[in-house]
Amino acid sequence: MNTSLIKKGILVLFLFVSTLQTQAQTKDNSTKILPRVTILATGGTIAGAGESATKAAYTAGEVPIDILLSAVPQIHDLAKVKGEQIAKIGSQDMSVEVWLKLSKRINEIFAENSADAIVITHGTDTMEETATFLDLTVLFDKPVVLVGAMRASTAMSQDGNKNLLDAVMVAADSKSLGKGVLVAMNGLVFDARDVTKTISTSTSTFQSRNFGPIGLIYDGKVSYYYESLRDPLKKFDVTKATSLPQVEIIYGYADASPVPVDALLKTEVKGIVYAGMGNGNFNAAVGKSLENASKKGIVVCRSNRTGSGRTTLLNEVDDAALGFVVADDLNPQKARILLMLSLIETSDQAKIQSNFFDY
Ligand code: SIN
Repeated sequence: MNTSLIKKGILVLFLFVSTLQTQAQTKDNSTKILPRVTILATGGTIAGAGESATKAAYTAGEVPIDILLSAVPQIHDLAKVKGEQIAKIGSQDMSVEVWLKLSKRINEIFAENSADAIVITHGTDTMEETATFLDLTVLFDKPVVLVGAMRASTAMSQDGNKNLLDAVMVAADSKSLGKGVLVAMNGLVFDARDVTKTISTSTSTFQSRNFGPIGLIYDGKVSYYYESLRDPLKKFDVTKATSLPQVEIIYGYADASPVPVDALLKTEVKGIVYAGMGNGNFNAAVGKSLENASKKGIVVCRSNRTGSGRTTLLNEVDDAALGFVVADDLNPQKARILLMLSLIETSDQAKIQSNFFDY
């Protein structure tokens, strides 16, 4: 039998079992007043389908949102849910185009008051970047919760169904109001600005290395313990934007050559995030090229490759003399997003630096 027939067979079986579950478990919720949660689906492993329940291989983004929802009938006890397919991609293919589409759709849904909260199903690889982008561009205080899975929907012990149920629980909980964009994974709730994927293959991959999760989901309840004081006072309105200024990331390492930075100087790039060693350090040759970039009007932002901690201003590097800004505790991929958004409004170094210290 060919592999696509086997895949189709598994999907049909999955749909059949899900429908039976829904029929068995759906009670009459028509008398309850439940929060309205719209689920925006983008793809990822949570919607992945594989040929075998025990092998790791799968194709991301194959299973449509309606089928994912029908596999978790308990969701209908928590919220009045509606699914919308925004994209069907593995999150390695996430793009500025899809970010703008998502952000605009969320702002539109909240502006017309057609949902009380939003859940986004997403691949885990770039979930932290989408969460940060939305944290900075969704103009409303209502809950927006990202969720994914590390195991495909057809895998044994798949984590997507429970994660999806948890995410809807977080979105539907009034305590989640005003907390900015959140990520719900593996029974934990994270603040968008701090969360990061830390292990390539484990279900316990999401962490906030500097500050920890802000809440837990256990036994059908959401409990919050902390709240970020750094959630943005300032939001970027991208509702009319069609693109963002180009910002690239350059990685630092021992004996790095200036070739990648010099190559960028010949392009239209508007910003460079340097993922430096330690506290955002670089060697002399790379430093010279970064200084040339800054003199050319390209905004250079130092972050670091350590995976946690801050990149601090004017300590080991004379940022004032070189014309650099620092990312504070944002990792390079999150710093890139804040720099792209800042550059829509200004290339003034001091203003951009204060965006990094405010967020
Ligand atoms: C992806 O990010 O789309 C693939 C990996 C995953 O979702 O876990």
